[in-house]
Amino acid sequence: MSPPNPNPLDPDDLEKARDAALDAFSAVAVLADLPAAKTAHLGDRAPILLARRSLGTLPSTERAEAGKRVNVVLQAVQASYDARKAELEAERDARVLAEESVDVTVLPDRLPVGARHPLTTIQERIEDVFVAMGWEVAEGPEVEHEWFNFDALNFGRDHPAREMQDTLFVAPEGSGLVLRTHTSPVQIRSLLDRELPIYVICPGRTYRADALDATHSPVFSQVEGLVVDEGITMAHLRGALDHFAAAMFGEGMRTRLRPSYFPFTEPSAELDLQCFECRGASAEPGGEPCRVCSSEGWIEWGGCGMVNPAVLRACGVDPERYSGFAFGMGIERTLMFRHGVTDIRDFYEGDQRFTLPFGMEA
Ligand code: PHE
Repeated sequence: MSPPNPNPLDPDDLEKARDAALDAFSAVAVLADLPAAKTAHLGDRAPILLARRSLGTLPSTERAEAGKRVNVVLQAVQASYDARKAELEAERDARVLAEESVDVTVLPDRLPVGARHPLTTIQERIEDVFVAMGWEVAEGPEVEHEWFNFDALNFGRDHPAREMQDTLFVAPEGSGLVLRTHTSPVQIRSLLDRELPIYVICPGRTYRADALDATHSPVFSQVEGLVVDEGITMAHLRGALDHFAAAMFGEGMRTRLRPSYFPFTEPSAELDLQCFECRGASAEPGGEPCRVCSSEGWIEWGGCGMVNPAVLRACGVDPERYSGFAFGMGIERTLMFRHGVTDIRDFYEGDQRFTLPFGMEA
């Protein structure tokens, strides 16, 4: 510690103390540093304040003169401090104003709105294919009455598809309600609601008591087609399906019907599509094996057939006059074929890395 000044009231020292204070205040660059400089030069232990305190030790003859000197210096230092403080505050205010200013003329950033889900866009694309041929889009509820889902579709009372392992029943037991297991109940609703002839397409969500794995999901989507008119034959069915396949997979994509059974169609067929991977080459003699179709050359796409007269009768349509065809296929499967998607779970996980590459189509 430096020894106490023997004479804090020395005029030179006072001037030095004033100059030091003035320099210190002007050297302060930001408001936050100002209090420290104030303590050093205007605080209780600052030289000038010590000088003022020592006035009392002077003989009264000298006190007035010395007191005036101290006051002049003190006022100069205080004035310098006040001026610097005002300056720094003004600087801070200007900076805050600039930093917090809002340019209302700047264009806003676009919010990322995400892409529409490929299941949505393909459903609309499918609707477009059929609407272009004059068909209408039909809808039905996902919580469906058993009568629409099974009975009217000619499923026997103890048809195995009604069993617990396939159908999700809606509580309480005996409610008669199920989560529709297919879109075919919309056939019934259309037959009951609409005037003949009927040309409808119905995409929608369906439910089955399946465990989720790479190729199954308890919730999935189907698209149903139904035509009822005079003189409808299986050739019309075939033509509609070929047109649909070409619209989905490109011209020249071949389809095949294989005899099958559905209670609501007679005759019934499985609808196969030429394998999108090998285009059937793996089934030719000497062809490379194909993983996608197990070298069958074909993959199953859906089911179809001529509307069973029993169904027409259940809906009050005269099967002597009218005939019709129906088809139904999985929409996820259609997308999987179309885009080489190998895991159905990708459709439901909401991961944008999966959905964005399908594009932003409206
Ligand atoms: N509803 C049938 C199914 O889910 C498919 C189908 C629809 C078959 C229309 C024939 C006619 O498997």
